[in-house]
Amino acid sequence: MQITLRRPDDWHLHLRDGEMLSAVIAASATRFARALIMPNLVPPVITGADAKAYKQRIMAAMHEQGVKSNFTPLMTLYLTENTVAQDVIDAAKDGTILAVKLYPAGATTNSASGVANLDKVMPVLEAMAANDIVLCVHGEVTDPAIDIFDREAQFIDSVLDPLRRRLPQLRIVMEHITTRNAAEYVQGSEANLAASITTHHLMINRNHMLAGGIRPHYYCLPIVKREEHRQALVSAATSADSRFFLGTDSAPHTRTAKLSECGCAGVFSAANTLECLATLFEEAQALAKLEVFASRSGPAWYGLPVNEDTVTLEKRDEPLALPMPFPVGDDTVVPFDPARPIYWHQL
Ligand code: NCD
Ligand code: ZN
Repeated sequence: MQITLRRPDDWHLHLRDGEMLSAVIAASATRFARALIMPNLVPPVITGADAKAYKQRIMAAMHEQGVKSNFTPLMTLYLTENTVAQDVIDAAKDGTILAVKLYPAGATTNSASGVANLDKVMPVLEAMAANDIVLCVHGEVTDPAIDIFDREAQFIDSVLDPLRRRLPQLRIVMEHITTRNAAEYVQGSEANLAASITTHHLMINRNHMLAGGIRPHYYCLPIVKREEHRQALVSAATSADSRFFLGTDSAPHTRTAKLSECGCAGVFSAANTLECLATLFEEAQALAKLEVFASRSGPAWYGLPVNEDTVTLEKRDEPLALPMPFPVGDDTVVPFDPARPIYWHQL
């Protein structure tokens, strides 16, 4: 059995910089046509000039790695309390960036420069709404008193919903949603709200991470939740509702950084995402809807054309081998293990 779909895009990707960028760029650039590149470098990508320079480093890494594809990195800016509205508008107008990313301060990897007080960025958000610039949000509260498994649901009530009431014209992507609450919130919204969903949140629940031994490679943010939440995400992703699209949140860290006493959050799923998704969509009897989720809904939201070329996946009798660890200096990056056999292979 085979399926052919328009080449997918990845609407949430961490490519990092330097030798890590060189190590991982081919995994995304040979599979996806475009990707929305996260700006949480150290220091972050804050200005239009930063984004231009980072895009050049990505293109240089592709060239240096001999990647022959038309992969287009779509850049984002990291919103800080010092962001200048005019810089954001200029960067969007001249095509340097496609969106702006809001990290609540301290929410995740490299988010120390994020926003502690939303009031401080309201002028920028108002300018974005007026100029139709998309805001991508990491949807978790950072209050240490809130349980880590409740931080996304709490964010909807205490941050996202009030923000949407205050600025209904602002177009927002709730990124990498992980709960039934978030899926239902998006489904119940009237306009100007969409969500990306990762491969790993569609495939694993918190038992995979914590039952029968702790598996640090499944530790990511937002943290994986209960099975009922995974099922709600699968329903949303396979429903052909154009408000849900693929953002892998492929977030490489070295094996050493993952397996340390305070391990980093992030799952590196770029190298086997499509095969995992085909498996999952087939299981949900929704293979025909994979193209909507992976290739059509994202461009529709961002007002971009669907990719012209296609990819083909084939179901075989022998399972797909787990991708080998990617060398980075003396270390490696360990690809996502879907915790079950995958019979789909990308041709
Ligand atoms: C991301 C990273 O490592 O940059 N980690 C993760 O677990 N997803 C940051 C993020 O997207 O939250
Ligand atoms: Zn991310």
